[in-house]
Amino acid sequence: MSFFAQFQDRARDEEQMDHPDCDPTQLFRTLDQFHGINRCFSRARGLLRRTFLADMQPGRRYHLVDLGAGACDLPVWLLAAARKRKLDLRITAVDADPRIIDYARKRYGHIGGLHIREGNALELETFAPFDYLFANHFLHHLPDEEISILLAEAHRLCQRGFVISDLRRSPWSYLGFSLFARVYRRSFSRADGLISIRKGFQPRDFHDIPTPLTLRTPLPGRIQILGGCFHPKC
Ligand SMILES: C[S@@+](CC[C@H](N)C(=O)[O-])C[C@H]1O[C@@H](n2cnc3c(N)ncnc32)[C@H](O)[C@@H]1O
Repeated sequence: MSFFAQFQDRARDEEQMDHPDCDPTQLFRTLDQFHGINRCFSRARGLLRRTFLADMQPGRRYHLVDLGAGACDLPVWLLAAARKRKLDLRITAVDADPRIIDYARKRYGHIGGLHIREGNALELETFAPFDYLFANHFLHHLPDEEISILLAEAHRLCQRGFVISDLRRSPWSYLGFSLFARVYRRSFSRADGLISIRKGFQPRDFHDIPTPLTLRTPLPGRIQILGGCFHPKC
């Protein structure tokens, strides 16, 4: 298969970090590096500001669920940003990997309003009721058939709206990241990042999904999937 042809469809390869026997030191170093990766590439903070923070009003309590929350850098930032705006927010950060849950609890278990829970994103009802759902770099971990189920559940259970930010499958992102990510050593960031780009999405991947969604590709290499109160206004 030519280099470009491998981006036609989503890859199915397993990421090293998802392997239960992967090296824990490299796994935790990878989680630490997500912070910088999120700042440089995903621009998640701007997205969180324009969606959830813009939608919330003081004087009401909100509950947000973050799926595949990893080391919890983004929910911790969002809680601090909400507090500054005098918004009453509590976040349930969900991850399926018990090693990652332990790591996140050690770092951020003391943060008020943050509940770090081990669980499967596909059992979304377990975390209800909630106003908002967020996921960054999580959706590409799921196979296609689970993605349709998750989006239907998000639409059914979210009392306000959901925002899912992930990687756009593109040969150019792949080439760019393969050069840039040489700085990430002794971790899974480079190898898993490249697999993740091949497991990422094109807008056409969502065309047969019946859930009402807004798809946006505002930044190179990114795709945003918005639903509920964020469809179609953002
Ligand atoms: C690439 S990390 C993203 C972490 C974080 N959202 C961030 O942006 O830094 C993806 C996370 O999704 C978790 N994950 C994978 N499948 C899951 C599932 N079915 N339910 C919950 N979490 C899952 C993995 O354990 C991993 O921590």
